[in-house]
Formats: sequence, structure tokens, C-alpha cells
Amino acid sequence: MKIKKNIPLIDQHDKKTGLWGGKFGGSYIPETLKKPVEDLTNLFEKLRKDKNFIKERDYYFENWVGSPTSFVKLKNLTKHLGGAQIWTKVVSEANGGAHKIYNATVHCLIAKRAGKKFIVGDTGAGYAGKMLSMAAKKFGLKCKIFMGVKDIKRQKPNCDAMKKNGAEIVPVYTGSQTLVDAVSECMRYWVSNCDTTHMCVGSTVGPNIFVKICGWSTSQISRELIIQIKKEFGKIPKKIKLLNCVGGGSSSFGFWNEFMHYNKKQIEFVGVEAGGPKKSKKHAAPLTYGSKIGILHGAAQYVNQNKEGQIEETESISAGLDYPGVSPLHCFLKDTKRARYTAATDEEALSAYQLVTKYENLNPSLEPSHAFAEAIKIAPKLSKDTIVCVCSCGDAYKDKHILKKRLGKYKS
Ligand SMILES: Cc1ncc(COP(=O)(O)O)c(C=O)c1O
Repeated sequence: MKIKKNIPLIDQHDKKTGLWGGKFGGSYIPETLKKPVEDLTNLFEKLRKDKNFIKERDYYFENWVGSPTSFVKLKNLTKHLGGAQIWTKVVSEANGGAHKIYNATVHCLIAKRAGKKFIVGDTGAGYAGKMLSMAAKKFGLKCKIFMGVKDIKRQKPNCDAMKKNGAEIVPVYTGSQTLVDAVSECMRYWVSNCDTTHMCVGSTVGPNIFVKICGWSTSQISRELIIQIKKEFGKIPKKIKLLNCVGGGSSSFGFWNEFMHYNKKQIEFVGVEAGGPKKSKKHAAPLTYGSKIGILHGAAQYVNQNKEGQIEETESISAGLDYPGVSPLHCFLKDTKRARYTAATDEEALSAYQLVTKYENLNPSLEPSHAFAEAIKIAPKLSKDTIVCVCSCGDAYKDKHILKKRLGKYKS
């Protein structure tokens, strides 16, 4: 299994099966979805080559999303930790406060081209839902968001935003009442409504085409970053580590994509999954803890499962990472050894949040706080010419109630 240098990773799947590396991804869908998925695939493949569509995408990314987001050195944290230089790409500056806006914008533009008036999506942390509600409002689409009841309770600020934007939140009571169940319910809804409705899957998961659209959209992050790094250092430095949290895998894939052809000794990709509470056996880290391959949401992937192959419940303080599976793109990056995966516990993420907000004017949500936890672990052992860049992909305002409860206050 090898990564090809000159072909975008999203296209390195088998044309017939949709599988990356012969075993990850695919399109395991019911017969009724075959035609809508084929239509969407044909439309997306046409649009991504269409200069006017690209122009339109870039226009909205620049003038509405707010690209580029800044790339800054965290000088105080660097000094405090000693060792490597800590930098961050502040993706949370994007409109709405997280990277989910890129995928949501592209999906709404596609829905318009497909002549659809309705759009549905899933959400965990609430950012995918908030962003879809914002983009739907902007482009005149009626929007429905599926969200687990546990997440509705713990991510209230984002739910309020969705409602304000006129979206309907459909509470999901099944299973663990988190993201995994929200995606399932959203897909079920789409099966019966695909004639009138477009579906936006909120991460690089789901049947092949949804992985591709999302990866194509979030790659804007690394398109910006590569320019910013070259401008800052005059060239690409010799030792860079790009750290990103991994739930479904959309921000990490977007953060890494443009650097895919670099040698991993020069540019290392480090994905940080949710290790869950320190004392719990449950986690949301299928790549770190060697979960087996199974099918979830229409795609083959490493997924937490029991001996009988049933999907296992996860546990994480971070609603956005609380998902038993992971993108086939990351399974492929793991098996080709292009990326390294590890996990941070709830407690480590909370401590990282405290330290980052103590030293810097940055407010990373619980998801990127997992990536900061890894940066804090490794930076002191690294040389001063090593660049550790963490993707700060979400703002912590949505987590203010959890942070207040766990740390006694929101922001240090
Ligand atoms: C701020 C933030 N970061 C990360 C994630 C994890 O998702 P992904 O791995 O697709 O980026 C989420 C998911 O909701 C999120 O809201």
C-alpha cells in the first residue's frame, strides 16, 4: 500500500469499488441511494473542474468565510515549554468559529447547482450544524440538522445559533445519543427524501463521494498554510510537525493535504484522537488503539467494535471527537505510515486548555485542546529549530458550560 505523489489523496481510490488502499472507504449504500449518489458523484466531478465553480467557491471562502485565517507563533507557550517552536493556524477565526464552514459552504453551492431546495446534515459538537445553518441561510436553502440528545444538552451555544439561523434541529434519541446516531438518522432521512433534499455529511466520513467533497473543501486550510509557511520562513523548514485532533478527520485531512508529497521526516503528520476519561475503558480512538476494520455509515474503516462486530459506544469530553469510526483517508494514512496517531485523555485536553489560555490569547475548543495536549507533551523534547504547528480548528465558546463545570471557570 503506497501513496502516489502526483495524485490528490482523495482520488487515490479504486474507481469501481471506491476503496482506498483496497480496503478503506467504498460506498456501502442501499439500492435506493445508488442513483442519487451516482448523480452527486457526476455533478461534483464536473464542478470541481469547472472554473466558474472554483471562482465562486474562492469568492465565498475569501469574502464570507474569511480566508486566510492567521498563522501565528505562540511565543509565550514556546518560552514556557522550552524546546520546539509552537505555532498555530487559527482556523477558529473562520466565520462561525470552526473549519466546518468550508464543507458546509461547498455543499450548499453544490445543492444550488443540483436544484435542491432542502439540505440536511448531522452534527456532534454543533459546529457542522451551525455552519450548515449559516450557509443554508446565506444560499436560501431550508435546513434540518440531526443531533444526538446528549450533544444538544452539552453544546447549547451552537444549538442556539442553529435555531437563530432558522434551522430545525431534529433530536436523536437512539443509541448513545451522540454523533454516530445523528449521522445514522440523517442518512435514514435522506434515503426517503433524496429527490428534493441534498445531504451534507459533516466530516470526511460516509460513502466515498461524501469523503471526497469534505476533503476537497477543508483542504483550503493547508492551501493557505503552505503559502504562509513559505512567506514566514522563506522556504519550507526542515523539521515541521503538523498536529491536529481527529474525530471523523476533516480538519486534520484539510490541514495536511497540501503537504502530502513531502517526506515525513521533513513534515510529520500527527493525529490526536480522543482517549476519553482517564479512568474509563471507553474511548474514541480507533486508530490509536488498533480497532478492527468494520463498516460504518456506508464505508469500511477502523472502528470501535465488540467481538461480535457491533459498534461500541464511545466516551469523550469532546462531542466533536466522540465518534467510534474515522475517515477512510486516515485509515489509509495510518496503514501507509504517512501519519502517526495518538490519543489524549479528557484530563489532558482540559490541562492543555488551561495552559494555552493562561499563556496565549487563544481559546481552543475541547477538540483542538487534544492536539495541544500532544504538543505540550512533545515540544520540550524537541530542538529549537523544530516547528510544531497545531491546528486550532474551533473556538471554545461552545464548551463554556463544560469548562466552567470541570475547571471552575471559562478561560484562564
Ligand atoms: C472544532 C472541531 N474540531 C474537530 C472536530 C472533529 O471533527 P473532524 O475530525 O472531522 O475535524 C469537530 C467536530 O465537530 C469540531 O467541531
